[in-house]
Amino acid sequence: MASVLDSIILPSTTVRTEESLAVAEAAAEGLSAKHKYLPCWLFYDAAGSMLFEKITRLPEYYLTSCEHAIFARHASEMIAVATGLGEQPMSVVELGAGSASKTLVLLRTLMARQARTLYVPVDVSEAALKLASKNVHAALPAIEVQPICSEFTREKSLNLPIEGRRLALYIGSSIGNFGPADAVELLQWLRSQLLPGDALLLGTDMVKNPASLLAAYNDSAGITAQFNKNVLTRLNRELGADFAANAFEHRAIWNVSESRIEMHLDSKRNQTVHVESLHRTFGFKRGESIHTENCYKFTPEAVEDMLLKGGYILEQSWYDEDRWFGVHGARVVDAAIMPRNEEVAAA
Ligand code: AVJ
Repeated sequence: MASVLDSIILPSTTVRTEESLAVAEAAAEGLSAKHKYLPCWLFYDAAGSMLFEKITRLPEYYLTSCEHAIFARHASEMIAVATGLGEQPMSVVELGAGSASKTLVLLRTLMARQARTLYVPVDVSEAALKLASKNVHAALPAIEVQPICSEFTREKSLNLPIEGRRLALYIGSSIGNFGPADAVELLQWLRSQLLPGDALLLGTDMVKNPASLLAAYNDSAGITAQFNKNVLTRLNRELGADFAANAFEHRAIWNVSESRIEMHLDSKRNQTVHVESLHRTFGFKRGESIHTENCYKFTPEAVEDMLLKGGYILEQSWYDEDRWFGVHGARVVDAAIMPRNEEVAAA
């Protein structure tokens, strides 16, 4: 099928891969929109992934340290809830594996229960998978690692190995990048990869005082601003765009009615930006923004509702002392006893 993308000329340094086409397509669509936007997956090139790692160590970015503390404190209970009364061995499937540092706590606990444990990290990034496998192997040599390289929000089937029960991990508040409908869709898709009785541990950032939320996305060292602007640098390099990163300003806002932090890049002046690969020029008014990310924050009720609509029953939630972050243990329910959509909507 012919598409507008057939005419895209990428800089000669760029390999014309599926990914670079996806970048071109995302930029073309988002920058032509009435309210300009760019999808947040564009953040994670090599430089962006390093900046995100830096963010997780910032004093204002409480999410990672809170979640780590929850895992350290409650790993045994989490494993007990996940395995239920069953005696079957359990394998662990992690979506968006990253460096797997929080996962290690869980895997260690699981190893005490069963000698042989299979760990299946799933990630789009080959590099992230290598790092996760290396870290797990170094800390727990007895674990069997079977990485799957997949863009799991699009891919139909993961072909997960069937080995006893499965525990799926979707942690780090990654679900927060999806709006309510897309989050439910993702959970439903994940459920379709699992079997009734399998378990899910879902990490979510919770609604809290706006000042603390805003500080986490507008740190005093300016790392989040760099992370945000890196998307422009990426478009310059990969699409031959001529964004001046310092002509845009990082802005984070708390959108209370949508229950989300929004990240924007605001144009500091009237300007035009040319994108070579798209043969197009985009105009920016002074103050006009590119919306680059949504980070949804949850109440316990919203988590339970989202899980139910996704096809899971919430069994237990664990929080840090301040209840700033939550990890939720849920069970995949049998389709036969699933409440129908109308009933969920009415509840
Ligand atoms: C990786 C989506 C969990 O929303 O907090 C961090 C990304 N953006 N700082 C988040 C992010 C700005 C992060 N997640």
